[in-house]
Amino acid sequence: MAAIFRPSANLAAKLILLGTAGAFLALIAWWWGFPRTNYVRNVRWTVDQPVPFSHQHHVAGLGIDCRFCHTSVEVASNAGLPPTYTCMTCHSQIWTNAALLAPVRDSLANDKPIVWHRINNLPEYVYFNHSIHIAKGVGCSSCHGAVDRLPLMSKQASFTMGFCTSCHSNPGPNLRPQSEIFNTEWHRTADTPSPAALMKLYHIPDRNLTDCSICHR
Ligand code: HEC
Ligand code: HEC
Ligand code: HEC
Ligand code: HEC
Ligand code: HEC
Repeated sequence: MAAIFRPSANLAAKLILLGTAGAFLALIAWWWGFPRTNYVRNVRWTVDQPVPFSHQHHVAGLGIDCRFCHTSVEVASNAGLPPTYTCMTCHSQIWTNAALLAPVRDSLANDKPIVWHRINNLPEYVYFNHSIHIAKGVGCSSCHGAVDRLPLMSKQASFTMGFCTSCHSNPGPNLRPQSEIFNTEWHRTADTPSPAALMKLYHIPDRNLTDCSICHR
C-alpha cells in the first residue's frame, strides 16, 4: 500500500493533538483555580474603612480582649462588631479631638452606627458558626491570623472549601487549650496536650466532619 501521509505528517498531527489537549487542560485549570487564588480573594488586602481602626494598637498595644468588642463570638453564630459606645468608653476621654476619630463622634452625636465594610464573608449557601469552634478549642488566629500585628484589618485566609475541610478532616493538631483561644500568637509547643488528648477533652465525636451536610444545610 502506498503511504498517504508521510511519517513527519503523522508526528505533526500528534503534536497538534497534544498541544490542543494541553491548552484545554490549562484552560480548565485556570477556570477552576483562578477564582480560588489568594489574589482574587483579596487575602492580605486592606479595605477602606470609615475610621482606620488598628488591631495592632488596641490588641497588642493596649491588651484589650477580643470579646470586649466582638461580644457574641462565644455564644452566637456571628462574632459581632462593636457599637460606637464601646469605642467611646475610652475615646470620650482619650484622643477626644483627634480628626481620625471624627466619624466616631459624629456617629454618637447623630445616633447613626458606623458602617464597617465587611472583610471576611462566606457565600450564603455555607453554614458557619463561631461559637462551636470557640467551644471546641479552635482559636481565632487559626482562621484570622495574627490580627494583633495588623495596623489595618485584612483577610488572612482564602476561606475556600478546601481551607475548611483541611481542618475538618483532622482537627486534632489544630486544637488548643481554652486558655489560649484569644491568644493570637499561640503556637503548639512541647507542653501542649497531644492532638488525641485534645480531641478527647473537647468530646469531638468520631464522625465525618467533612460530610457535606455539616456546612451545606
Ligand atoms: C477595641 C475593639 C476591638 C478589639 C479589642 C478587637 N477588635 Fe476586631 N474589630 C474591631 C472593629 C471596629 C472592626 C471593624 C473594622 C476593621 O475591620 O478593622 C473589627 C474587625 C475584625 C475582623 C474582621 C471583620 C470582618 O469584617 O470580617 C476580625 C476577624 C477581627 N476583628 C478579629 C479580632 C480578634 C481575633 C480580636 C482579638 C484578638 C479582635 N478582633 C479584637 C474592633 C475590635
Ligand atoms: C480600652 C480603651 C479603648 C477602646 C475601647 C478603644 N480605643 Fe481607640 N485608642 C485607645 C488609645 C489609648 C489610643 C492611643 C492614643 C495614643 O496614641 O496615645 C487609641 C487610638 C485610636 C486611634 C488612633 C490611631 C491609632 O491606632 O493610634 C483610632 C483611630 C482609634 N483608637 C479608634 C477606635 C475605635 C474605632 C474604637 C472602637 C471600635 C476604639 N478606638 C476603641 C483606646 C481605646
Ligand atoms: C474556624 C474559623 C474561624 C474561627 C476559629 C474564628 N472565625 Fe471569625 N470568621 C470566620 C468566618 C468564616 C467569618 C465570615 C462569616 C460569614 O461570612 O458568615 C468570620 C467573621 C468574623 C467577624 C466578622 C463579623 C461576624 O460576626 O461575622 C469577626 C468580627 C470575627 N470573625 C471575629 C472572630 C474572633 C474574635 C474569633 C475568636 C474568638 C474568631 N472570629 C474565630 C471564621 C472563623
Ligand atoms: C482549625 C480547624 C477548623 C477550621 C479551619 C474550620 N473548622 Fe469547623 N469545626 C472544627 C471543629 C473542631 C468543630 C467541632 C466538631 C464537633 O465537636 O463536632 C467544627 C465544627 C463545625 C460546624 C458544626 C458541626 C456540627 O454539626 O456540630 C460547622 C458548621 C463548621 N465547623 C463549619 C466550618 C466552616 C464553614 C469552616 C470554614 C470557613 C470551618 N468550619 C473551618 C474545626 C475547624
Ligand atoms: C467544612 C465545611 C464544608 C464541608 C464539609 C463541605 N463544604 Fe462545600 N463549601 C464550603 C465553603 C466554605 C464553600 C465556599 C467556597 C468559596 O467561597 O469558594 C463551599 C462551596 C461549595 C460548592 C461551590 C463550588 C465551589 O467549590 O466553590 C460546592 C458545589 C460544594 N461546596 C459542595 C460540597 C460537597 C459536595 C460537599 C461534601 C462532599 C461539601 N461541599 C462539603 C464548605 C464546606
